[in-house]
Amino acid sequence: MTSFDQRDFRNALGTFATGITVITTTHNHAEPVGITVNSFASVSLDPPLVLWCLDNDAYFHDIFANCSHFAVHVLHQDQEAVSQIFSTKNSSKFNSLDWEMGEFGSPILKDCASHFECEMERQCDGGDHVILLGRVTAFKTHKDKPPLIYHAGEYQVLKIL
Ligand SMILES: Cc1cc2nc3c(=O)[nH]c(=O)nc-3n(C[C@H](O)[C@H](O)[C@H](O)COP(=O)(O)O)c2cc1C
Repeated sequence: MTSFDQRDFRNALGTFATGITVITTTHNHAEPVGITVNSFASVSLDPPLVLWCLDNDAYFHDIFANCSHFAVHVLHQDQEAVSQIFSTKNSSKFNSLDWEMGEFGSPILKDCASHFECEMERQCDGGDHVILLGRVTAFKTHKDKPPLIYHAGEYQVLKIL
């Protein structure tokens, strides 16, 4: 049991600005699935490891928790609509997007800042989320555009000081 207000806690966490990613994988070796995620973080250069956190109640929880590979796409500032597509229950998420099947079996969105193809390395309990650690097997930078930023529950753009 926590002694503080959940809304205050969320608001405090929201003061930490993040980028926005879309994580994709393939269901039953055929159906592309994806989810908008801002809990992505780099972990290690050698070995090359990244992590993200998956809500235990997410619609795609079982698919991602059981996948052997996934791809992380970093969105650029013109891709707020892509973030919105992958944060809804819409079933035709990939229809309006340019994508191809990656070398390691994960769908790759073409117009994003960069993508990282990963093998599932390990999973750890993270309370109401599960922490997924991925080993990067390939990556590519696509667009030299500023990232899409998420801060205090709003999409924002980067201001260079
Ligand atoms: C900006 C943003 C960041 C999100 N970050 C995460 C995340 O880190 N982990 C997660 O499991 N869901 C995250 N979500 C929620 C999922 O995108 C969303 O739950 C999922 O795509 C579909 O919703 P459903 O699981 O309720 O069907 C985020 C949503 C938004 C809009």
